[in-house]
Amino acid sequence: MSAFPILHHHLLLLRPRLHISVKPFSRTLRGPFSSLVSAQCASSLSSTASREDTDEMADPPSAGELSEQQQLIDVNPPRGTRDFPPEDMRLRNWLFGHFREVSRILSFEEVDFPVLESESLFIRKAGEEITQQLYNFEDKGGRRVVLRPEITPSLARLVIKQGKSVSLPLKWFTIGQCWRYERMTRGRRREHYQWNMDIFGVSKVRAEAELIHAIVLFFERLGITSSDVGIRVSSRKVLQAVLQMYCIPEKIFAEVCVIVDKWGKITKEEVEKELSLAGVTPEAVKGIVEVLSLKSLDKLEEVLGSDGEAVADLKKLFELAEQYGYSQWLTFDASIVRGLAYYTGVVFEAFDREGKLRAICGGGRYDRLLSTFGSDDIPACGFGFGDAVIVELLKEKGLLPDLMRQVDDIVFPLDEELDGQASKIATALRQKGRSVDLVEEKRLKWVFKHAERINASRLVLVGNSELQRGMVRVKVLSTREEYEVKIGELS
Ligand code: HAM
Repeated sequence: MSAFPILHHHLLLLRPRLHISVKPFSRTLRGPFSSLVSAQCASSLSSTASREDTDEMADPPSAGELSEQQQLIDVNPPRGTRDFPPEDMRLRNWLFGHFREVSRILSFEEVDFPVLESESLFIRKAGEEITQQLYNFEDKGGRRVVLRPEITPSLARLVIKQGKSVSLPLKWFTIGQCWRYERMTRGRRREHYQWNMDIFGVSKVRAEAELIHAIVLFFERLGITSSDVGIRVSSRKVLQAVLQMYCIPEKIFAEVCVIVDKWGKITKEEVEKELSLAGVTPEAVKGIVEVLSLKSLDKLEEVLGSDGEAVADLKKLFELAEQYGYSQWLTFDASIVRGLAYYTGVVFEAFDREGKLRAICGGGRYDRLLSTFGSDDIPACGFGFGDAVIVELLKEKGLLPDLMRQVDDIVFPLDEELDGQASKIATALRQKGRSVDLVEEKRLKWVFKHAERINASRLVLVGNSELQRGMVRVKVLSTREEYEVKIGELS
């Protein structure tokens, strides 16, 4: 049956409330992957993204407002999540292609995990935001499960599962969807894809240096320079040293880190109150605040002395950065603590130097995560790099690629009886690896327009008179050149 009656029916339904039919279109345009056909177009659209992303958005008319005949399902995906129409999918594949290529260059192996994980993997008591944002529920078998908010615990789980069969060090990367019930802001959504690179079995800062190298290589491939983006680095051992100075028990270390990470996000008084509730004395709070404001390694050395691990690790990392040739990207900033409980050493975050966006990526060392799952510890470090903030940055910098659909050939029979011949020709070309769109039941004028729309390279016209001579007519669309070629020689 023709699709037209159905389409007609939908149009009739939509006509009285036109905004319903418009909404999915405008929403698609505004998503973080809204490169659509041109970077210019996308950057003009990006300014509306933050408006749409707030919870204040007007709700669509309720079912009661619409007459029975008008009731159409809500065609938008759940708030904070995205559809990926072809043009957005092209951008996503382009981005993931760079994630994969950089990982390959650094000699990392790809791994994958289920998006659905056991809730127990994410139960941590340090009061992290991430554990309060879980999409968690009971499955039909009564098991507590979550849509993972991050991938690091799954990595740790697999390392433990593989046990002695894995040879260390291991270098794994993965790209996967993560879910967090977040308040949406620019570049922060309720689902996002995260590129993770992690190294297990290297205790020296060489591992951190390799990971930061990967991040820098990635930025450079996209045309982002060290004047656009910087990477702030510190170590949790800085905070640990301060807490030791004030005899604060080790067991509240993770909790203190999570609170300190809120510095600048909530008021100073609130941070101080939370620290004191956790058991940090007012003198220690003062000490922490003083150290957090340090912006140079020399000053840190003056405060902590030169024999501590924090200073030694950071000095070594900056030395390595010189050798790799990316030191211009790095700055020491003692206020970088990161909000996840499990970090134990060096921590880092990439940021846009204009200060318009949230962290572009972040990571650090987590040498004691495995023991929280009941296993022996293995030194580990890694980073997570989301797909949303980077797209916002590319828009800001006019660096979004112009990704057109690309098809090699359109094969078009000029006569209905030639369908069989056209199929044979399309098959031969596809067997050679060319992408072929086989078009039927259209007028030639439409086919030419279609060729332009899908950016086809050639048009292969299957006509009666040419076929009788064993030939087809080929039109090269970029040059408008036209010629006949023997079917067997078409390549
Ligand atoms: P994270 O800082 O929570 O770290 O997330 C890493 C990155 O994921 C962020 O810098 C950002 O690019 C992206 N991201 C996080 N939440 C959202 C969101 N709601 N919407 C869009 N993008 C988001 C972790 O997840 C650690 N597990 C990273 C890690 C790996 N550490 C060691 N290995």
